[in-house]
Amino acid sequence: MPSDASALVDRRGVWVIVVAAGSGSRFGGAKQYEDLGGMRVLDHSLRTARSVADGVVLVAAPDRAADQEPDADVVVPGGATRSDSVRAGLDAVPSDAEVVLVHDAARPLATAALFRRVVDAVRSGADAAIPAVPVVDTLWTVDGEAVDRTGFVAVQTPQGFRAEALRAAHHGGGTATDDATLVAATGGHVRFVDGESSNGKITTASDLVVAAARLHHRAVGAGEDPASAGLTP
Ligand code: CTP
Ligand code: MG
Repeated sequence: MPSDASALVDRRGVWVIVVAAGSGSRFGGAKQYEDLGGMRVLDHSLRTARSVADGVVLVAAPDRAADQEPDADVVVPGGATRSDSVRAGLDAVPSDAEVVLVHDAARPLATAALFRRVVDAVRSGADAAIPAVPVVDTLWTVDGEAVDRTGFVAVQTPQGFRAEALRAAHHGGGTATDDATLVAATGGHVRFVDGESSNGKITTASDLVVAAARLHHRAVGAGEDPASAGLTP
Protein backbone atom coordinates (compact mmCIF):
# COMPACT_ATOMS: atom_id res chain seq x y z
CA MET A 1 0.00 0.00 0.00
CA PRO A 2 1.41 3.44 -0.85
CA SER A 3 1.97 5.43 2.31
CA ASP A 4 1.27 8.75 0.56
CA ALA A 5 -2.51 9.24 0.44
CA SER A 6 -2.17 11.42 -2.66
CA ALA A 7 -0.89 8.37 -4.53
CA LEU A 8 -4.39 6.94 -4.20
CA VAL A 9 -6.06 9.87 -5.95
CA ASP A 10 -7.50 9.01 -9.34
CA ARG A 11 -6.44 11.97 -11.44
CA ARG A 12 -7.44 10.43 -14.76
CA GLY A 13 -9.56 12.66 -16.95
CA VAL A 14 -9.42 15.56 -14.48
CA TRP A 15 -8.22 18.99 -15.59
CA VAL A 16 -8.14 22.19 -13.55
CA ILE A 17 -8.36 25.73 -14.93
CA VAL A 18 -6.76 28.22 -12.53
CA VAL A 19 -7.95 31.72 -13.38
CA ALA A 20 -5.37 34.39 -12.60
CA ALA A 21 -5.98 37.08 -15.20
CA GLY A 22 -7.69 39.66 -12.98
CA SER A 23 -6.27 43.08 -12.24
CA GLY A 24 -6.96 43.08 -8.49
CA SER A 25 -8.59 46.51 -8.49
CA ARG A 26 -9.99 46.14 -4.96
CA PHE A 27 -6.66 44.84 -3.69
CA GLY A 28 -4.70 47.60 -5.41
CA GLY A 29 -2.63 45.37 -7.72
CA ALA A 30 -2.11 41.84 -9.02
CA LYS A 31 -2.77 40.02 -5.73
CA GLN A 32 -2.17 36.60 -7.30
CA TYR A 33 1.55 37.45 -7.63
CA GLU A 34 1.99 38.61 -4.01
CA ASP A 35 4.12 36.54 -1.65
CA LEU A 36 2.31 34.20 0.69
CA GLY A 37 4.53 32.08 2.93
CA GLY A 38 7.50 32.09 0.59
CA MET A 39 5.77 31.57 -2.73
CA ARG A 40 3.30 33.47 -4.84
CA VAL A 41 -0.41 33.28 -4.06
CA LEU A 42 -1.05 31.57 -7.39
CA ASP A 43 1.63 28.92 -6.74
CA HIS A 44 -0.41 27.59 -3.82
CA SER A 45 -3.43 27.25 -6.10
CA LEU A 46 -1.44 25.65 -8.92
CA ARG A 47 0.29 23.10 -6.70
CA THR A 48 -2.87 21.95 -5.00
CA ALA A 49 -4.64 21.74 -8.37
CA ARG A 50 -1.80 19.68 -9.75
CA SER A 51 -2.04 17.15 -6.94
CA VAL A 52 -5.54 16.07 -8.05
CA ALA A 53 -5.42 16.46 -11.83
CA ASP A 54 -3.98 15.10 -15.06
CA GLY A 55 -3.34 18.65 -16.20
CA VAL A 56 -3.55 22.29 -15.15
CA VAL A 57 -4.29 25.28 -17.37
CA LEU A 58 -3.21 28.64 -15.98
CA VAL A 59 -5.08 31.63 -17.34
CA ALA A 60 -2.81 34.63 -16.88
CA ALA A 61 -3.06 38.31 -17.73
CA PRO A 62 -1.98 38.82 -21.37
CA ASP A 63 1.29 40.51 -20.32
CA ARG A 64 2.18 37.51 -18.11
CA ALA A 65 1.13 34.73 -20.47
CA ALA A 66 4.68 34.22 -21.78
CA ASP A 67 6.11 33.73 -18.25
CA GLN A 68 7.58 30.32 -17.41
CA GLU A 69 5.16 28.55 -15.04
CA PRO A 70 6.54 25.11 -14.17
CA ASP A 71 3.45 24.16 -12.15
CA ALA A 72 1.12 24.62 -15.12
CA ASP A 73 0.89 22.40 -18.20
CA VAL A 74 -0.49 25.20 -20.38
CA VAL A 75 -0.59 28.97 -19.93
CA VAL A 76 -3.08 31.04 -21.90
CA PRO A 77 -3.97 34.75 -21.82
CA GLY A 78 -7.22 35.68 -20.09
CA GLY A 79 -10.00 38.02 -21.11
CA ALA A 80 -11.80 41.11 -19.91
CA THR A 81 -14.14 39.28 -17.50
CA ARG A 82 -13.65 36.21 -15.34
CA SER A 83 -16.05 34.30 -17.59
CA ASP A 84 -13.98 35.26 -20.66
CA SER A 85 -10.89 33.99 -18.85
CA VAL A 86 -12.57 30.68 -18.03
CA ARG A 87 -13.55 30.28 -21.69
CA ALA A 88 -9.93 30.93 -22.74
CA GLY A 89 -8.83 28.23 -20.30
CA LEU A 90 -11.52 25.81 -21.43
CA ASP A 91 -10.32 26.10 -25.03
CA ALA A 92 -6.96 24.72 -23.86
CA VAL A 93 -8.44 21.73 -21.98
CA PRO A 94 -8.07 18.50 -24.01
CA SER A 95 -11.31 17.31 -25.56
CA ASP A 96 -11.09 13.95 -23.76
CA ALA A 97 -11.13 15.52 -20.27
CA GLU A 98 -14.12 14.23 -18.31
CA VAL A 99 -14.11 16.44 -15.24
CA VAL A 100 -13.06 20.09 -15.37
CA LEU A 101 -12.53 22.17 -12.25
CA VAL A 102 -12.32 25.95 -12.24
CA HIS A 103 -10.41 27.55 -9.40
CA ASP A 104 -9.67 31.16 -8.49
CA ALA A 105 -5.91 31.71 -8.15
CA ALA A 106 -6.96 34.14 -5.43
CA ARG A 107 -8.10 31.26 -3.16
CA PRO A 108 -4.69 29.86 -2.25
CA LEU A 109 -5.77 27.94 0.85
CA ALA A 110 -8.28 25.53 -0.72
CA THR A 111 -7.06 22.07 0.31
CA ALA A 112 -6.49 18.99 -1.83
CA ALA A 113 -9.23 17.31 0.21
CA LEU A 114 -11.70 19.95 -0.99
CA PHE A 115 -10.60 19.49 -4.61
CA ARG A 116 -11.16 15.74 -4.21
CA ARG A 117 -14.65 16.19 -2.73
CA VAL A 118 -15.55 18.28 -5.75
CA VAL A 119 -14.16 15.71 -8.21
CA ASP A 120 -15.95 12.87 -6.39
CA ALA A 121 -19.29 14.67 -6.51
CA VAL A 122 -18.99 15.16 -10.29
CA ARG A 123 -17.90 11.57 -10.80
CA SER A 124 -20.97 10.44 -8.88
CA GLY A 125 -23.33 12.19 -11.28
CA ALA A 126 -23.57 15.95 -10.68
CA ASP A 127 -23.21 18.30 -13.66
CA ALA A 128 -21.67 20.79 -11.25
CA ALA A 129 -20.29 20.47 -7.71
CA ILE A 130 -19.65 23.59 -5.70
CA PRO A 131 -18.21 24.14 -2.22
CA ALA A 132 -20.61 25.95 0.11
CA VAL A 133 -20.20 27.40 3.60
CA PRO A 134 -22.77 28.93 5.94
CA VAL A 135 -23.24 32.69 5.81
CA VAL A 136 -22.04 34.06 9.13
CA ASP A 137 -23.04 37.70 8.74
CA THR A 138 -26.58 38.94 9.26
CA LEU A 139 -28.08 39.81 5.90
CA TRP A 140 -30.27 42.73 4.88
CA THR A 141 -31.55 43.76 1.50
CA VAL A 142 -30.41 47.15 0.23
CA ASP A 143 -34.06 48.20 0.56
CA GLY A 144 -33.75 47.85 4.33
CA GLU A 145 -35.31 44.45 5.01
CA ALA A 146 -33.66 41.82 7.19
CA VAL A 147 -33.23 38.45 5.48
CA ASP A 148 -33.24 35.00 7.08
CA ARG A 149 -29.67 33.88 6.44
CA THR A 150 -30.49 30.22 7.11
CA GLY A 151 -31.76 30.09 3.52
CA PHE A 152 -28.38 31.13 2.13
CA VAL A 153 -24.91 29.71 1.65
CA ALA A 154 -21.74 31.34 0.34
CA VAL A 155 -20.06 29.45 -2.48
CA GLN A 156 -16.38 29.06 -3.26
CA THR A 157 -14.03 27.52 -5.77
CA PRO A 158 -12.83 24.99 -6.86
CA GLN A 159 -16.06 24.32 -8.70
CA GLY A 160 -16.17 21.06 -10.63
CA PHE A 161 -18.10 20.13 -13.76
CA ARG A 162 -18.85 17.37 -16.14
CA ALA A 163 -16.72 18.69 -19.00
CA GLU A 164 -19.60 18.69 -21.47
CA ALA A 165 -21.87 20.60 -19.08
CA LEU A 166 -19.25 23.33 -18.59
CA ARG A 167 -18.58 23.61 -22.32
CA ALA A 168 -22.31 23.84 -23.03
CA ALA A 169 -22.80 26.49 -20.33
CA HIS A 170 -20.03 28.65 -21.75
CA HIS A 171 -21.04 28.09 -25.35
CA GLY A 172 -23.41 31.04 -25.32
CA GLY A 173 -20.71 33.37 -23.97
CA GLY A 174 -22.57 34.43 -20.80
CA THR A 175 -21.08 36.31 -17.90
CA ALA A 176 -21.38 35.52 -14.19
CA THR A 177 -19.12 35.71 -11.15
CA ASP A 178 -18.95 31.92 -11.05
CA ASP A 179 -19.40 29.05 -13.50
CA ALA A 180 -22.05 27.06 -11.66
CA THR A 181 -24.44 29.97 -12.24
CA LEU A 182 -24.03 29.47 -16.00
CA VAL A 183 -24.42 25.69 -15.70
CA ALA A 184 -27.59 26.09 -13.62
CA ALA A 185 -28.94 28.55 -16.20
CA THR A 186 -28.58 25.87 -18.87
CA GLY A 187 -30.51 23.35 -16.75
CA GLY A 188 -27.53 21.59 -15.17
CA HIS A 189 -27.81 19.82 -11.84
CA VAL A 190 -25.71 21.57 -9.19
CA ARG A 191 -24.67 19.74 -6.01
CA PHE A 192 -23.15 21.32 -2.91
CA VAL A 193 -20.13 19.87 -1.16
CA ASP A 194 -18.81 21.12 2.17
CA GLY A 195 -16.61 24.16 1.62
CA GLU A 196 -13.87 25.37 3.94
CA SER A 197 -14.11 28.44 6.15
CA SER A 198 -10.36 28.98 5.62
CA ASN A 199 -10.83 29.06 1.83
CA GLY A 200 -11.53 32.77 1.63
CA LYS A 201 -10.86 34.72 -1.55
CA ILE A 202 -8.14 37.33 -1.33
CA THR A 203 -10.04 40.43 -2.36
CA THR A 204 -8.56 43.27 -0.30
CA ALA A 205 -5.10 43.77 1.19
CA SER A 206 -6.21 42.65 4.66
CA ASP A 207 -7.33 39.29 3.21
CA LEU A 208 -3.68 38.55 2.40
CA VAL A 209 -2.72 39.19 6.02
CA VAL A 210 -5.47 36.80 7.13
CA ALA A 211 -4.33 34.16 4.62
CA ALA A 212 -0.74 34.40 5.89
CA ALA A 213 -1.95 33.91 9.46
CA ARG A 214 -4.06 30.93 8.45
CA LEU A 215 -1.16 29.38 6.58
CA HIS A 216 1.07 29.81 9.60
CA HIS A 217 -1.57 28.30 11.86
CA ARG A 218 -1.94 25.37 9.48
CA ALA A 219 1.83 24.75 9.40
CA VAL A 220 2.02 24.85 13.20
CA GLY A 221 -0.99 22.53 13.46
CA ALA A 222 0.68 20.07 11.08
CA GLY A 223 3.75 20.01 13.31
CA GLU A 224 5.94 21.70 10.70
CA ASP A 225 8.52 24.25 11.67
CA PRO A 226 7.01 27.43 10.21
CA ALA A 227 10.45 28.88 9.58
CA SER A 228 11.54 25.84 7.59
CA ALA A 229 8.30 26.03 5.61
CA GLY A 230 9.35 29.52 4.54
CA LEU A 231 6.77 31.17 6.78
CA THR A 232 7.34 33.99 9.17
CA PRO A 233 5.26 34.19 12.35
N1 CTP B 1 -10.01 36.71 -13.03
C1 CTP B 1 -9.57 36.39 -14.32
N2 CTP B 1 -9.88 37.19 -15.36
C2 CTP B 1 -10.59 38.32 -15.19
C3 CTP B 1 -11.07 38.66 -13.89
C4 CTP B 1 -10.76 37.83 -12.83
O1 CTP B 1 -8.89 35.36 -14.48
N3 CTP B 1 -10.84 39.09 -16.23
C5 CTP B 1 -9.62 35.86 -11.89
C6 CTP B 1 -8.81 36.60 -10.81
O2 CTP B 1 -7.43 36.65 -11.16
C7 CTP B 1 -9.10 35.81 -9.56
C8 CTP B 1 -10.51 35.23 -9.83
O3 CTP B 1 -10.77 35.42 -11.23
O4 CTP B 1 -8.18 34.76 -9.36
C9 CTP B 1 -11.58 35.91 -8.98
O5 CTP B 1 -11.69 37.26 -9.36
P1 CTP B 1 -11.55 38.51 -8.37
O6 CTP B 1 -11.32 38.08 -6.99
O7 CTP B 1 -12.66 39.44 -8.69
O8 CTP B 1 -10.13 39.14 -8.85
P2 CTP B 1 -9.88 40.46 -9.67
O9 CTP B 1 -10.88 40.58 -10.77
O10 CTP B 1 -8.44 40.44 -10.05
O11 CTP B 1 -10.11 41.57 -8.57
P3 CTP B 1 -11.03 42.89 -8.68
O12 CTP B 1 -12.42 42.41 -9.02
O13 CTP B 1 -10.92 43.52 -7.33
O14 CTP B 1 -10.45 43.72 -9.79
MG1 MG C 1 -12.97 40.76 -10.31
